[in-house]
Amino acid sequence: MSITYNDRIKAWKLDTPNTSYILGVVDEKYLAHIYFGARVEDDNLSYLLRPEEIVPPSIKPEEQLGFMDTVQLEYPCQGIGDFRECCLALKGEDGQTGCNLIYKGYEIINGKGRIKGLPTCFGDNAQTLVIKMTDEISALEVSLSFTVFEDCDAVIRSAKIQNTGKRAFYLERAMSACLDFELENCEIITECGAWAREHIIERTKLNHAAVCAESIRGEEGHDAMPFMAVVSGNADQNSGEVYATQLVYAGNFLAKVKKNPHDQIRMVIGINPETFTWKLESGQSFRTPEAILVYSAYGLGHMTRTFHDLFRNHLIRQDWVRKERPILINNWEATYFDFDKDKLLEIGREAKKRGIELQVLDDGWFGYNRNQPSGGLGDWYVNEAKLEGGLKGLTDELDKMGMKFGLWFEPEMICEDTDLYKKHPEWVVHQKGRIPARARDQWLLDYSNPEVREYIFESMAGIVRSIPVVYIKWDMNRAISDVGSDYLPADRQGEIWHRHVLGVYEIQERLTEEFPYLLIENCSSGGARFDAGMLYYSPQIWCSDDMDPIERLSIQEGTAMLYPVSTIGSHIAKSPNDISWRSVSFESRAVAAMFGTFGYELDITKLPKEEVEQIPGQIERYKSIRKLILEGNYYRLASYRETKEYDAYMIVSNDKKEAFMVYMQVLSKPNSLSRRVKLQGLDPEMHYDVNGVTYGGDVLMNAGILIQRKKDFEAQFVRLKGKGK
Ligand code: DGJ
Repeated sequence: MSITYNDRIKAWKLDTPNTSYILGVVDEKYLAHIYFGARVEDDNLSYLLRPEEIVPPSIKPEEQLGFMDTVQLEYPCQGIGDFRECCLALKGEDGQTGCNLIYKGYEIINGKGRIKGLPTCFGDNAQTLVIKMTDEISALEVSLSFTVFEDCDAVIRSAKIQNTGKRAFYLERAMSACLDFELENCEIITECGAWAREHIIERTKLNHAAVCAESIRGEEGHDAMPFMAVVSGNADQNSGEVYATQLVYAGNFLAKVKKNPHDQIRMVIGINPETFTWKLESGQSFRTPEAILVYSAYGLGHMTRTFHDLFRNHLIRQDWVRKERPILINNWEATYFDFDKDKLLEIGREAKKRGIELQVLDDGWFGYNRNQPSGGLGDWYVNEAKLEGGLKGLTDELDKMGMKFGLWFEPEMICEDTDLYKKHPEWVVHQKGRIPARARDQWLLDYSNPEVREYIFESMAGIVRSIPVVYIKWDMNRAISDVGSDYLPADRQGEIWHRHVLGVYEIQERLTEEFPYLLIENCSSGGARFDAGMLYYSPQIWCSDDMDPIERLSIQEGTAMLYPVSTIGSHIAKSPNDISWRSVSFESRAVAAMFGTFGYELDITKLPKEEVEQIPGQIERYKSIRKLILEGNYYRLASYRETKEYDAYMIVSNDKKEAFMVYMQVLSKPNSLSRRVKLQGLDPEMHYDVNGVTYGGDVLMNAGILIQRKKDFEAQFVRLKGKGK
């Protein structure tokens, strides 16, 4: 049993392989958080609540406020004397805001089911504790869920909030999780980003000022990732304590941490309250996105591998997660909007000859005038001036070559220059009487309106039904502003942001249900929407438009700190690079692009002969490690962000018999010896072949190998083969 209840002390203990999470009822009313940390056998840790110091109201009513402000709570409410960050805030139709949740009962359920319309973790080898609390005055019931899996050191949390009364009220804040704990001398790790600079790891000291990671842009990765970790100051890849959280959500989020004057730390995560209100009529309920809590006593590496295992085993589509992904060629950086059928077929022919498996037709194939980013979005019919014979004409030819086909869409957007806009100007998200700000000359469609969602789904599904398309790139290229809906009534305008996210989920869910063979790659101006919410629908996500392998080191390090390497969309682009203007050898670009799904995004027909001839070898090499990337365990050996000179990572198979390592010398250092790099994750008793030399696993991990420092931007790929013990 992973979850046990001790009636005598009114406490639950949730165990994962290496951690325990303990919560209990205090004063027969309040749901208190007691402990989250390394696994313990005893469940009576209630002394940590300091009952002699933080005295419950039934014993000391005159100091109720002091109790509320210091007791550790699982789901704190606004305005009742807990002055720390709260999880729940509501407003009645009378304008009153009070809410005080009182414990009512619990249930332990085997397994973890899915929830229609929301991305969620799932699995049979799990138990879920559901705790019910109510506030009688506002007639509100909150059910908190806590799930633990047998194979993973994570706790999954969410809240369901139900109006059990007769009058409506408004949720003004409904966070997914709260974690109260203590950790001295700690630091906060977050990830920030912008276009072409996504997912960059940042570390800052936690004093008493709050630190938050948040986004209200509707595409979080061009701001901050829905993640936060509080770590002991000395934490590194292999040691130190880590309390981390992630939100399974593709919209505006807030992750906030603050240490109060008593040095109690509270971390909360959920939908960003700044762009959220939700009306709950009598009988209606609202479910928050899931939040993941991870504790690691073994540093950041264990946190990362826990997230990877959780996502691979319990979040990503199981029919896809371990399936080998096609090696693709995408025409975006090869042609941008300037292509026709002949050009695409020329690329396809050359790509097929070299061993590429899938050709992706990116932006520009639809509408009347999509020769620049200012037209066509919403008119999802092919531009025959560019593609004679339509998509069918193209796929017939590709089919003959044996080349699979993938297609780009940007389904959440509309351009003024379209039939769709002429017919339905009211489908644009806008505020009455105002023209919304354009970005990339486009506006957002109102996904709160079911007719809009139906139109988009049918436009996409119609194409997928009619041609042999096996892959879709779902792009989203602007931040969300000027929010207002002609469809929703006045008292539901605050719901648009969240309803937009639910609309995206709905269409992707319908696509995956009707076309289970379809591989969806999400994308948002690069990696602006790389999160666990989208991973539920698409087993790979485009990580950044910046394909410069040096820029990618920090982008990929940040992405892989949270998400499995196999989910990272990664391509080889031209040199000099279109975004960074840096020139890097074809070989180094290929090695860098192996950190993920591997593909080409350049005009293969224009490559010099000596480069095009390298492609079959690059593909063979990637294929030889494709399974390792899908199933293996990732270890970060060195970070260019920190070393300022080189970068290294490795991936090791579960049975530890196979591994590879990639080392990138970013800057050369004249007059230097070879570098000693200690490997990780190997079997200390196994012998390994490394470039024809045999080493013991213990030697490779403790003494390391010597890597020759080569010239600037030179990548090295090292394969390890276990030879037995
Ligand atoms: C942004 C994406 O990140 C690119 O890969 C490309 O698909 C363009 N959009 C097309 O407009």
